Amino acid sequence: MQADDLGRRAVLVGMAASAAAVAGRVSAATGAPRRYVQVGVGSRARMYQDAIWGPHKAHAELVGICDTNAGRLALAGRRAAQAGARPPKAYAAADFRRMIDELKPDGLIVTTPDVTHVDYIVRGLDAGLDVITEKPMTTDAAKTQAIIDACKRNNRHVRVNFNYRYAPYRSQVKRLLMSGAIGDVLSVDFHWLLNTVHGADYFRRWHSQKPISGGLMVHKATHHFDLVNWWLSDMPVSVDATGKRDFYTPEMARRMGLSGPHDRCLTCTEKTKCSFYLDLAADPGLKALFLDNEALDGYHRDRCVWRPDISIEDTMNVIVGYAGGTTLSYSLNAFNAWEGYHVAFNGTKGRLEHSVVESGGTAGAAERASRDVVTTRIIPMRGTPQIITPDEGAGGHGGGDAVMLADIFDPGHAPDPLLRMADERAGAASCLVGIAANRCFQTKKQVQIVDLVTGLGRPDQPRMPPHSGPVPMPIKRA
Ligand SMILES: NC(=O)c1ccc[n+]([C@@H]2O[C@H](COP(=O)([O-])OP(=O)(O)OC[C@H]3O[C@@H](n4cnc5c(N)ncnc54)[C@H](O)[C@@H]3O)[C@@H](O)[C@H]2O)c1
Repeated sequence: MQADDLGRRAVLVGMAASAAAVAGRVSAATGAPRRYVQVGVGSRARMYQDAIWGPHKAHAELVGICDTNAGRLALAGRRAAQAGARPPKAYAAADFRRMIDELKPDGLIVTTPDVTHVDYIVRGLDAGLDVITEKPMTTDAAKTQAIIDACKRNNRHVRVNFNYRYAPYRSQVKRLLMSGAIGDVLSVDFHWLLNTVHGADYFRRWHSQKPISGGLMVHKATHHFDLVNWWLSDMPVSVDATGKRDFYTPEMARRMGLSGPHDRCLTCTEKTKCSFYLDLAADPGLKALFLDNEALDGYHRDRCVWRPDISIEDTMNVIVGYAGGTTLSYSLNAFNAWEGYHVAFNGTKGRLEHSVVESGGTAGAAERASRDVVTTRIIPMRGTPQIITPDEGAGGHGGGDAVMLADIFDPGHAPDPLLRMADERAGAASCLVGIAANRCFQTKKQVQIVDLVTGLGRPDQPRMPPHSGPVPMPIKRA
């Protein structure tokens, strides 16, 4: 069965839904390229730069960049020249305001570490800019409130880029749910696995400090909670959770035969014995971005994953209650043998199962793949299971990044019936689940989302079928 068959009705439903009015969407009106500044020019920043200097150069121009690290600013300038673009004017982070005043941009792209987003988002909004931010929108309830208030004060939305929505096979899942194929979704089982290549990397970088990243519940799971919020077109209301760090610990280093944790890989005296050793110098990209510039800010990209000062969890279990009555059972594990996820939607007419083994999940030979291995199937309550041919795309994050970049920068991009362009309401609805989970880890008590912030509106979401019709009757026994 092709998803298109099931999805046609969903598209019509979605077309009828209200259009998302999200700041950052380029206007087709003037024809002149929109002028952007970007704060934070590390790894993720490059996706936006490459889009602006490449496929979207007719529509967008990067006029200014801002960062705490002068070396990375200089590197970004050299990359612009290599791409044949005019190098953007570089500003120190302390001169952010001067950058806005001098360059008078149309838009701001925020690609700094998570805890710093709020400051730039609010200053951008107050300066009258269209603000586009990377996920997670922010890291705690007070910062979420500050963004909600700044949006209201300025009568603007912030665009929060949830690229996971745009992966063709996840968009397909949304269309299948909207088609009513499995009826009303009563519960969701969602399990995300990070392996010891990508997963371990969170424990080396700034992400390992909860005050900076919000922990994996916020930094990473914001993608996943947003997917469920959007897949269901619903709002989370309650969160129960438990979390612990049991793998990336000094004790585990000793169990692996090391004398204990070290400070960083570069100076480690046991690098030949540690299978988590990262050689920054051997990777030209990491060397140019981080190793060559670490004397300027003291940031080490290769901290020991066994350090005692790590303050994030590696094992997390969460139960979320939704306004519409659906319940979500979610887990995140950061030391797994492969990387990817299983999600299952239990509906009144059947079950939708969707799983992805990510191509980057290199730990287990049996699971090794040169591209994402996607499996989607519908098991009707009464009937034969149907294998769905997955929609595919090319490029970063399952092909989602390219679709999202067109949605951001291309004024001719068609209206999106799936309303994948998210704003601060969806950004908050997602990061608040992780923020609530972090609170549960400490208090062991259920958290109500409504107790975390005030004035959070419901995001624009595609309309689901009003009801799924009769539930299949039980099979009559002779
Ligand atoms: N959507 C995705 O799939 C995805 C993937 C990777 C990263 N991200 C997000 O992108 C953001 C950046 O992550 P990254 O991996 O590029 O990190 P990074 O460490 O590679 O880069 C961060 C940059 O910000 C700069 N910086 C730090 N503090 C600053 C401050 N106060 N003001 C200005 N600049 C500052 C650093 O010097 C560095 O150049 C994060 O919010 C992260 O969650 C999203």
